Amino acid sequence: MCNTLLPLACTACLAFVLLAGLGCLDNLAAPDKPALPATLNWGASSDSSSDGEAVEATRLSVSNATLDDLRSRLKAFKFVEPVENSGFEYGFNGAFMKQLVSHWLNKYNWRVWEDRLNSFPNYFTRIEGLKVHFMHLKPSKQGVKKRVPLLILHGWPGSVFEFYKLIPLLTTPDTDGLAFEVVAPSIPGYGWSEAAKKRGFSAAACARVFDKLMVRLGYRQYYIQGGDWGAGIGHIITREFPERVLGFHTNMPMQPFRQPSVIVQMIAGSFLPDGILFSKKDGQKIFPYFEKLSDIIRESGYMHIQATRPDTIGHALSDSPVGLAAYILEKFSVWTDPQNRLSQTGNLIGPKAAFSLDELLTNVMIYWTTGSITSSVRLYKEVFSENRETTMAYFSIPSDVPHGVASFSNELSRVPERIVRVTHPNLLHYADFDHGGHFAAFELPDLMNSEVRAFVRAAEDFHAKKRSPLGEGKEL
Ligand SMILES: *[C@@H]1O[C@H](CO)[C@@H](O)[C@H](O)[C@H]1NC(C)=O
Repeated sequence: MCNTLLPLACTACLAFVLLAGLGCLDNLAAPDKPALPATLNWGASSDSSSDGEAVEATRLSVSNATLDDLRSRLKAFKFVEPVENSGFEYGFNGAFMKQLVSHWLNKYNWRVWEDRLNSFPNYFTRIEGLKVHFMHLKPSKQGVKKRVPLLILHGWPGSVFEFYKLIPLLTTPDTDGLAFEVVAPSIPGYGWSEAAKKRGFSAAACARVFDKLMVRLGYRQYYIQGGDWGAGIGHIITREFPERVLGFHTNMPMQPFRQPSVIVQMIAGSFLPDGILFSKKDGQKIFPYFEKLSDIIRESGYMHIQATRPDTIGHALSDSPVGLAAYILEKFSVWTDPQNRLSQTGNLIGPKAAFSLDELLTNVMIYWTTGSITSSVRLYKEVFSENRETTMAYFSIPSDVPHGVASFSNELSRVPERIVRVTHPNLLHYADFDHGGHFAAFELPDLMNSEVRAFVRAAEDFHAKKRSPLGEGKEL
């Protein structure tokens, strides 16, 4: 008995000493904050006009000529015959595409969705030479006691439309009277926000643009929520402008790569049985990089194309609405649930569908009618090829800004709580879900609303405690 327990106890002791030691090394290994891009005007070189402070209300509108052109392209659709007995394993299934195109031509009505988009107040303002689009909603209903500014950030291949069900929930006061003032911008190069004309518009450049937007709108401090690119951009804002960020909530936490304790845990976690290093509560058996390597290879091909030759794929996608729909909606299928690839419809319709076809097509329509797919995929080039070192550095810079995570079971990048904590000592809220995918705000708006609120309540308590410098006076 003693003979077996002693070495085990020693190993455990050694492991703890090692981890504690590595934890100290983590601080030394944390990189310096990278410099933000030097370019301050991303517009065309020929345009030297300055930004100004103007904020203009706008109505989003697509011309009839654009819709007529789309119609004729959809009618000329070329059928791609799928191999027998295939679902979405080879990519978007041709038989289902036929059905989708028919729905697009005969049932889908853009004007209805355009009105819906315009039921939110839309604005433009010029920042760093770019016309930036955003939705801005203030709580207008009765019972508001506390208004909290929230910058909410979308990613690829999404748009501000991902938030159309979540925003009205956020702007409605809860039982405590807390309601959000929501600012939902389109990333420059996505949807209605103008694309950079110059090279180098990275996530860090976007972070600076969005912080300037909040300052222009009169917010000295604000919260951030983001997934996908919105998570990366929010992560950088908290590093670059911590004095303005009250808290950062994400459904896709960034992996710190440079911390020695993280590297050791990544490797050890891939060998140790479930529950030893990463608890079941973390929602995964072992560290995803090892257990799910095959999943990562299967799902990351798009990223290599976009990070190397964005304009090449951009030509194909800008010239064909069917190609664009296949490229975008395949992601909404398999990133919501990887098992959807086994279904002939990708579960984009039927009992397991997470979204309606109209919702999915509206997101595709935003890319099509604004012609923004090429500029949207260029962000991968700017971040992963042109500024790779900078991006990796940001991931490993610690921040004591209050942090919250909602970790959904089908998220592409899940990070266990203890790893998130390495770079976020003030991780105030971490919740694991046994369901839910990458487009969580679009798929589970009620749950996201309650998650954001749970985090913001914890962060408000945290700030209230820090703000009590007067002392309480002793009982005598
Ligand atoms: C599109 O055409 C319809 C019918 O002719 C017209 O009423 C409408 O104003 C047009 N819309 C736009 C945005 O031009």
